[in-house]
Amino acid sequence: MSTLNITEITNWVVDLIDVRKTYRRKVQALRGVNIQVGRGEVFGLLGPNGAGKSTLVKIMMTVIRPDRALGTVLGRPIGHRQKIGRMGYLPENHRYPGYLTGIQLLDFYAALARVRKTERTRLTTAWLERVGMKEWGGTRIREYSKGMMQRLGLAQALMNDPELLVLDEPTDGVDPVGRREIRNLLLELKKQGKTIFLNSHLLSELELICDRVAILKEGLVARQGPLRDLTDRILGYRVRVTGDVSAMAAKVAALGGRVEDGQIALASEDPRKVNEVIDVLRAGQVLIESVEPRRLSLEEVFVEVLGEGGRVGGVR
Ligand SMILES: Nc1ncnc2c1ncn2[C@@H]1O[C@H](COP(=O)(O)OP(=O)(O)OP(=O)(O)O)[C@@H](O)[C@H]1O
Ligand SMILES: [Mg+2]
Repeated sequence: MSTLNITEITNWVVDLIDVRKTYRRKVQALRGVNIQVGRGEVFGLLGPNGAGKSTLVKIMMTVIRPDRALGTVLGRPIGHRQKIGRMGYLPENHRYPGYLTGIQLLDFYAALARVRKTERTRLTTAWLERVGMKEWGGTRIREYSKGMMQRLGLAQALMNDPELLVLDEPTDGVDPVGRREIRNLLLELKKQGKTIFLNSHLLSELELICDRVAILKEGLVARQGPLRDLTDRILGYRVRVTGDVSAMAAKVAALGGRVEDGQIALASEDPRKVNEVIDVLRAGQVLIESVEPRRLSLEEVFVEVLGEGGRVGGVR
């Protein structure tokens, strides 16, 4: 019987273990990061400025060398040539030659991905259109705005039809309509079975598309898991009512509730408590309009994990 290699049985598309990186022997940008991304997932890596997000994706893409990095990407050790060819990468602060037009740049990347010349024109035109840049294909990149550069960068990352898309702040500088377009595009790519690894600060945006997230803090993963598990915690309830509740304020307060602007806010996550409050209100002939749970937002999780005024940068 042949022995099974552990890298062949893992289902993770990205399975990083104990990734460490120190810059110039003094900045510990990554201090032992473990991250797992499943096939077909949209994974969001978040963290404050300098937490190490870009360092991590640069290591995955072999742009920089780690001190140590175990685990696999697409089932092979980091840096496996063929597997890198199956990845698309949008770097942060990318600079494409300003003298090229958008079409020329995409044609160049398609050529690098060994797309045949006859096929390249069709592909570059189709992707320019998909990222909303059809009219700009013939214009030199130096004339592009920041958001246009991001859109072009995204098209560039897709020229090799990658299995795994690694995007470092893809919507940086993109206007709200453009961000929505990019979001829809990413969701479509996910439907096609692609795995997407995304660095972003835009928590409300990540909340809309990510299946799982990790929060990086000073070079370590502080929290990781399905978005729903992180944000599903109920903080309390809000009971909307019609009518005067001031006469019941004392009874509501005894159950842990507060009357705010004629509505009831309950800080307890216990549904029995909300039922007791409702009983009190009903007994007082108050009409109940709605009962809404108040859930944690990703931003609240983020602030909770990092603490207010969380420090910026790696550990020196
Ligand atoms: N080339 C470098 N030389 C020295 N230090 C560096 C270098 N690149 C990054 N660092 C340091 O490593 C740490 C992590 O930086 P990194 O760029 O990975 O953070 P980030 O999470 O991507 O931040 P941002 O949200 O601002 O993009 C920071 O303290 C940064 O100052
Ligand atoms: Mg970064």
